[in-house]
Amino acid sequence: MADESWRVPVPVQELAAGVEEPPSRYVQREQDRPGRLLLAADMPEPLPVVDLGRLPAADEAAKLLAALQTWGLFMVTNHGISASLMGDVMSVSREFFRQPLEEKLKCSNLKEGKRFQLDGYGADPVMSQDQILDWNDRLHLQVEPEDERNVAQWPEHPESFRDVVHEYASETKRMRDTILQAMARILELDEGYFINQIGDKAQAHARFNYYPPCPRPELVFGIKPHSDATALTVLLVDKDVGGLQVLRDGLWYNVPVMSNTLLINLGDALEIMSNGIFKSPVHRVVTNAEKERISLAMFYAVDGETMLEPASGLLDEKRPARYRRIKAKDFIAALQEHFSKGMRIVETLKI
Ligand code: OGA
Ligand code: NI
Repeated sequence: MADESWRVPVPVQELAAGVEEPPSRYVQREQDRPGRLLLAADMPEPLPVVDLGRLPAADEAAKLLAALQTWGLFMVTNHGISASLMGDVMSVSREFFRQPLEEKLKCSNLKEGKRFQLDGYGADPVMSQDQILDWNDRLHLQVEPEDERNVAQWPEHPESFRDVVHEYASETKRMRDTILQAMARILELDEGYFINQIGDKAQAHARFNYYPPCPRPELVFGIKPHSDATALTVLLVDKDVGGLQVLRDGLWYNVPVMSNTLLINLGDALEIMSNGIFKSPVHRVVTNAEKERISLAMFYAVDGETMLEPASGLLDEKRPARYRRIKAKDFIAALQEHFSKGMRIVETLKI
């Protein structure tokens, strides 16, 4: 039988402990490297901070609209999630990754040591031998619909892990709806438009990211440039270690870290539904030589049976559809293939 061991990379955390140079599978081609862009530019204007407690006040809604049209990424305050819960989520995540490998492998994303499934601990799928890998280990858990959770795959250690993640996921779901309603309102659509389109059987996934220090951060990506295929993503990032960067008009910018805030990242599905009024930003993560970094992305997807298409209320003779329609599940199916090659599927739908 052919040697398929290339499909099962050693966790980066294990690698990082022993190497002085990242192995060649992690090294980006010269033209793609973060290089000196590790020192990304200062933002031309600060990343917007939206006070969710003030919505739907007109000036706050205007700020939200401006954020969605420019960065597609913004911070939220007054989001109703307590600082202690946010702290607990970060610490159970950190504790999970600190455990010995054999403990983490109890949640492995490879069945029988080789067949890939989305839920679980490990690397992103390796689709080909020449795929360049990211300097990242992750734990992926489906959190919505709640009755479809594969709890057996959820870590048992630390002991509070499941409860903390459950509580956090309920809070971010509530916040998702607040933001989706505000987004529909600023486009003068029915307040429930996006929530209904997304559907009540839509999936959500938690992705716990672990980025070990990298001895040569200028050669690798923590996560290569991509946009999220979601409706929206709620990001909780390390308050001490940066690394997330966002692309705007051809330049990369460091995303600032501010405690007690969450980052909202608009996804491709809402770029399509808003007919391109809202931007799904291309973003990436760079690593550093000294410090590990943790983040938690909550990916809110659209139900697979939903037809992704620009909202008809936004279209008229002067404003034709700018995206071809596609079933959400076909969109998701094409995702991994595109991501592994560093391409965006949403580009292929533009008219
Ligand atoms: C992601 C992502 C950013 C981060 O998981 O899709 O973009 O800061 N993460 O880890
Ligand atoms: Ni992302």
